[in-house]
Amino acid sequence: MRQQIVAGNWKMNNDLAQTETLITNLKNQVKTSKAEVMIAPTFTNLWQAYQTLKDTDIEVIAQNMHFAANGAYTGEISASMLKSVGVKTVILGHSERREYFGETDEILAKKVDAALANELRVIFCFGEVLADRKSGNHEAVVESQIKNALFHLEASAFKNIVLAYEPVWAIGTGETASPEQAQDMHAFIRKTLSNKYGADVANSVSILYGGSVKPNNAQEIFGKPDVDGGLIGGAALNADDFFAIVNAF
Ligand code: 13P
Repeated sequence: MRQQIVAGNWKMNNDLAQTETLITNLKNQVKTSKAEVMIAPTFTNLWQAYQTLKDTDIEVIAQNMHFAANGAYTGEISASMLKSVGVKTVILGHSERREYFGETDEILAKKVDAALANELRVIFCFGEVLADRKSGNHEAVVESQIKNALFHLEASAFKNIVLAYEPVWAIGTGETASPEQAQDMHAFIRKTLSNKYGADVANSVSILYGGSVKPNNAQEIFGKPDVDGGLIGGAALNADDFFAIVNAF
């Protein structure tokens, strides 16, 4: 049975006081599903969030990291720095990192290597833009994003990798992929993994869907056989909405 996961990506939202308020509200929620629950606050709030949540079953994870161990990379954060504040999982390859910060497949391959070498679990994001979807190129784009950043890895590395399919046209737009579109792509992703690493690996990797998941559509999307959970943006900023999504399993 694959691990079900619901992760909240807070993006560049919430200062320290707002983080404390949201976390207090999250702690008051009751989880009825078996899904693993994670939240990704900004770097400056990771330590506070970790301290507050370390005895709960909400894991505090990071939104990004640099591939270098340390050195002259002004403004960057390394894997060991994340670990030192209790982080065990990092999101890499989010489309906003790719689009606004120039992260290429090559950079992401290095980040994945650095995270795994530091025993961090990776939530690796990818997804096509609208033009690719319209031209029917979406599977080829997703396949190349996965191959270029991950297919140099040994099969055993996939124990520490979660995949997150986030079609760019569905992020923050209120327009979700239909449950069928999500299922078709997730099945394609699993087939791509299976062709390279075999069915056992492919069937063990959790594949999350992200892009305008809300309390009113989560159940239908999570009900699809190859969708193992969600990466939640906007709805993760409200404790009631986030837990409604967590409990949609
Ligand atoms: P929204 O849920 O706001 O569409 O964001 C999705 C996302 O980018 C999660 O990483």
